[in-house]
Amino acid sequence: MGNGIAHVFARAGYAVVLRDVDQRFLDRAMESISKNLDREVKKDKISEAQKSAALARIRPVVDLPSLAAADFVVEAVPEQWDLKLRVLKDADSVVRPGVILATNTSSISITKLAAQTTRPENFVGMHFMNPVPVMVLVEVIRGLATSEATFQTTMSLCETLQKTPVAVNDSPGFVSNRVLMPMINEAAFAVMEGVATPEAVDAVMKTGMNHPMGPLELADFIGLDVCADILEVLFQGFGDPKYRACPLLRKYVAAGWLGRKSGRGFYKY
Ligand SMILES: NC(=O)c1ccc[n+]([C@@H]2O[C@H](COP(=O)([O-])OP(=O)(O)OC[C@H]3O[C@@H](n4cnc5c(N)ncnc54)[C@H](O)[C@@H]3O)[C@@H](O)[C@H]2O)c1
Repeated sequence: MGNGIAHVFARAGYAVVLRDVDQRFLDRAMESISKNLDREVKKDKISEAQKSAALARIRPVVDLPSLAAADFVVEAVPEQWDLKLRVLKDADSVVRPGVILATNTSSISITKLAAQTTRPENFVGMHFMNPVPVMVLVEVIRGLATSEATFQTTMSLCETLQKTPVAVNDSPGFVSNRVLMPMINEAAFAVMEGVATPEAVDAVMKTGMNHPMGPLELADFIGLDVCADILEVLFQGFGDPKYRACPLLRKYVAAGWLGRKSGRGFYKY
């Protein structure tokens, strides 16, 4: 997600500092960005010169002080509370007062993360969709303390990235995952109960509901571990059994069948 976010900011003309823990990851990210920009050149969305200019605007770094130059920060480290907390506190300690800290979290409370920084009023959720350069939605999530100015700045910023921002309040799963995950979970239950094969479930949703991907295909794309984790957040957050993760989904995760990234999920890759 981080390389996609850097991609769209750089393409829109912003200078980007892309930070990761190791140069290897940065090299891989720059390679992905270059390949993804190539795709846009091939589709005549941007010119070769625009591609080179966008790449030149990204400065990959591993050190923390380089972040001090930022006017806006988007955090996109793995979905673990302790890690996010450490990274956000680090950013909070080096950027100027008033600079907005945004998090791309899929499921952690914006209010709770914001409260751990010195700037809860300048803290916001900026939930990009995967793949970032392609998907136009950004859920912009207000924490309890998010100021109107922070919220409006983030909404406007999304528009300059040629994204469509949608305003959402802080609540487990926001809107995207609160609606999507129960559908994926129900599809998994249908397979577990022998109602239909994964192919049949996906065919119904693609051809009958006009979804571009079936729910199980999408679950494999997102990662079955990620789906199970988000369902757990919904289950804990609402205390409602309707969000309990399907046992088949949990079994696949336990087996290491995590979807596309592990070569096997509901489908084999
Ligand atoms: N994958 C998706 O479809 C998706 C969609 C929307 C939102 N998200 C959210 O985006 C975030 C990132 O997800 P991802 O799938 O890109 O994860 P990922 O594991 O693919 O990438 C995370 C990156 O963060 C880096 N990182 C780890 N620790 C770091 C640190 N201390 N400082 C700087 N960088 C560090 C890792 O090296 C890695 O490059 C998560 O919060 C996730 O919930 C993911």
